[in-house]
Amino acid sequence: MNESTPSPETAVPDPLPGERLRRLKILHLEDSPVDALLVQEMLASENMDCEIIVVSEPADFERELARGGVDVVISDYSLPRYCGTDALKRTREAGPETPFIFVSGSIGEERAVEAVRLGATDYVMKEHLRRLGLAVRRAVEAAESARRRREAETRLAEERNFLADVFSSVQDGIVVLDADLKIVQTNPTMEKLFPDRMPLAGKPGSLFCPGGDGSIAATTLRDGCPAQSVCTMETAEGKGEFSVYSYPLLERSTGRQKGVILYVRNVTHEHALQQQLFQSQKMESIGKLAGGVAHDFNNILQAIMGFSEILEGEIPEDDPRHADVLEIRKATDRAVALTRQLLAFSRKQVLNPVDLDMNGLVGNMGGMLQRLIGANFQLRYDFDSAPARVHGDTGQIEQVVLNLVVNARDAMPKGGEIAIATRQREVEEPEAAGRGAPWRAGRFVCLSVKDTGTGIPPDVLARLFEPFFTTKEKGKGTGLGLSTVYGIVQQHGGWVDVETQEGRGSTFTIYLPALGQEPPKGPAA
Ligand SMILES: Nc1ncnc2c1ncn2[C@@H]1O[C@H](COP(=O)(O)OP(=O)(O)OP(=O)(O)O)[C@@H](O)[C@H]1O
Ligand SMILES: [Mg+2]
Repeated sequence: MNESTPSPETAVPDPLPGERLRRLKILHLEDSPVDALLVQEMLASENMDCEIIVVSEPADFERELARGGVDVVISDYSLPRYCGTDALKRTREAGPETPFIFVSGSIGEERAVEAVRLGATDYVMKEHLRRLGLAVRRAVEAAESARRRREAETRLAEERNFLADVFSSVQDGIVVLDADLKIVQTNPTMEKLFPDRMPLAGKPGSLFCPGGDGSIAATTLRDGCPAQSVCTMETAEGKGEFSVYSYPLLERSTGRQKGVILYVRNVTHEHALQQQLFQSQKMESIGKLAGGVAHDFNNILQAIMGFSEILEGEIPEDDPRHADVLEIRKATDRAVALTRQLLAFSRKQVLNPVDLDMNGLVGNMGGMLQRLIGANFQLRYDFDSAPARVHGDTGQIEQVVLNLVVNARDAMPKGGEIAIATRQREVEEPEAAGRGAPWRAGRFVCLSVKDTGTGIPPDVLARLFEPFFTTKEKGKGTGLGLSTVYGIVQQHGGWVDVETQEGRGSTFTIYLPALGQEPPKGPAA
């Protein structure tokens, strides 16, 4: 071997690029001062920048270990009061990755193998002490790269956990599809929504695409463009409306499309609120129209009424034309009553409000209501124990109760029980927000009329309060009963809530602001 070429055993490797340049702290367990000096000189001759702490007693060794910051432990194999393998054990306990090198003249091959098995990093025979520098460097490098690897793994695991947290925290469903539009992954929201479709992996993505033909995912896969659609799906919480969006799944490094991501958003609640908004806007415009017509029409009717009264006075009773004039009067009276109902619906009536107790109001109507509905029906009352006080127009509120009771009667052709109840309740902000307009927070008196009749199908429910909407046969209903209720209750600053089940009956509940509650601002006031 050429003298100028250092043997691999003795070559001093350059520091790794980026390797930290700092003083090594070496803890040397050695009872022989001569051997300790030898090691020190050997490392110095290798230009190794290090601080060597030499100890010979177990207690000192353990104390130094406990102080920390030890980069390498060099230990004799057999010491008078300490066994090298015990030192190794303590070192491993203190720091599993601290390099540990045996330096011994007496170790022997078998023991050396055993020492490595027990976790020693290396061993150097005293007669080959020149190897020590290299052994120390290698051990430090190995420990350093193990540390870097461990840190990188920790960072990777943290990143992975973070992404998993994000994935599982998204309240919308996420479905990842491969290039064959098969499901490869879903987030926990999907499991909560569709537990009966689990496991989803491997199933076709069309399960969550409107129409069931995978159309939007297929479009996105083909064109690389986002697509969106709406569909109705059965979930663990019942039937729901969903907006499904599909986005291309792209490989970050190449931009190549690997599949499709479906984003499944439950819009049932938004949809219901939107419907409610449409509904109240519709009622608002019908109200304006009806109110305008009724107002002008009423003026015309006043003229007809006035002139027919003049005619009635002028034409003698024995004149056959007198009866004709009376017919004009009767028809005009009916028309006036109708326009009054329309005015009530459009909240254009002049109210005469007083402080009143709903319990008393309903109680006073009892006899009249019973006569109105007939013997086939029983009225059951359930009044709130405290007076249910509101500020309202007695006649108008009586009209509301009457119309609701008549409708309840008409919904039970074979007779039955009609339950009228009053309650006071506090509507909290979250409930009001959840229910949407016209619900609002505050203290209210509720009056409910419950029947066990036909219930109301969805198509009727959507048009319930429209003036002239009726399902009754011609001549039986004008379709103004509920629009009058709607208008009167709104003019009092309240609203009407309907719960119904087809074939089981309906409950109409009116909410009126409890006495002392601010009426709402704006058009509903
Ligand atoms: N309690 C109820 N149960 C089932 N359906 C009802 C109930 N109340 C109202 N409806 C439905 O709503 C429709 C409209 O009711 P509304 O009171 O406005 O008009 P109407 O009862 O048909 O006629 P009227 O002007 O004589 O009251 C009814 O025709 C009926 O189909
Ligand atoms: Mg009616």
